[in-house]
Amino acid sequence: MPPVDPQGRTINYLRLSVTDRCNLRCSYCMPENGISKITHNEVLSYEDLYRIARAAVAIGIDKIRITGGEPLVRKGIIGFLQQLADIPGLGQLVLTTNGVLLEEMAAELRAAGVKRLNISLDTLNPETFARISRCDSLKRVLAGIQMAKDYGFPIKLNMVVMRGINDHEILDFAELATNSATTVRFIEYMPAIREYNWQGLVVPGTEILKRLAQRYTLLPLEHAEAAGPARNFRIPGAPGIIGVITPVSHHFCSECNRIRVTATGQAKGCLFSESRIDLKQSLHENSDVLLTRALAEVIDTKPLQHQMSTEECHHQAFSMSSIGG
Ligand code: 5AD
Ligand code: SF4
Repeated sequence: MPPVDPQGRTINYLRLSVTDRCNLRCSYCMPENGISKITHNEVLSYEDLYRIARAAVAIGIDKIRITGGEPLVRKGIIGFLQQLADIPGLGQLVLTTNGVLLEEMAAELRAAGVKRLNISLDTLNPETFARISRCDSLKRVLAGIQMAKDYGFPIKLNMVVMRGINDHEILDFAELATNSATTVRFIEYMPAIREYNWQGLVVPGTEILKRLAQRYTLLPLEHAEAAGPARNFRIPGAPGIIGVITPVSHHFCSECNRIRVTATGQAKGCLFSESRIDLKQSLHENSDVLLTRALAEVIDTKPLQHQMSTEECHHQAFSMSSIGG
């Protein structure tokens, strides 16, 4: 049985980051001049990451999402995923990627036992892609998405909606859910790095829905337990699903089911909280008992909710690539 935190939330989901490195440099994730990279010896070995995953499953977590940075840039990732997929009791092994390396790696990911992919895609326009990610890789990403579909992966596309940058593409993205069985999720921009005037970038979920309703009938789907933070909708006749994720305007903290571990072994109960537990000590002492205890403590001290709104945020700036989104 998955553990329950003092707020009564069932915690069945671990987001495990395997690297802070990335082959893109998205403007909402890192400042223009990049971030100070963690050094190689600070990053946990696959052996240690595997022990964390096993400890998480031992306390009842049944879903692990591998994140980065960009997880596919870390050498040896396929072998690691294979190992994870074999952990008894792990129901779902899933991965978040920017898609750049998917064309080459989709087949191996499938064979390794990854069940589903979340792919970050914020625009269908090459210039806008270059503006957002500071790289010219849209073609590769689109080819990667196609390859992942060809290998039978269920796909969720995550679009971070930013006013004045890509919000005019909301309806084009929705159309993708009408053409194939793809889930398209619109995510409110979050002020992770606290850009100057970030408030101007947030398009609240209510506005996203209004814009979608100009063209589509949206039928709300019931919120399945452990379905995550999205409010989901069906468009009559469409094979795909539309999701809206509103971390800023309407937080979903009371239903939060996750903990996170960074690539350096910092376990966190909340993306926006400074509080963290360093797992390195337990790893160093080679003690699985200490490790499971540390993870249980993260769950026991998981914050009630974050304090961010569309007007203000109080957290210290961080790069999503260092925590894994
Ligand atoms: N706001 C909203 N979503 C973000 N992501 C990364 N940074 C932000 C942000 N500032 C998303 C990415 C990816 C997921 C891991 O987190 O697009 O889909
Ligand atoms: Fe890389 Fe994802 Fe950050 Fe973009 S959002 S720079 S793809 S880690």
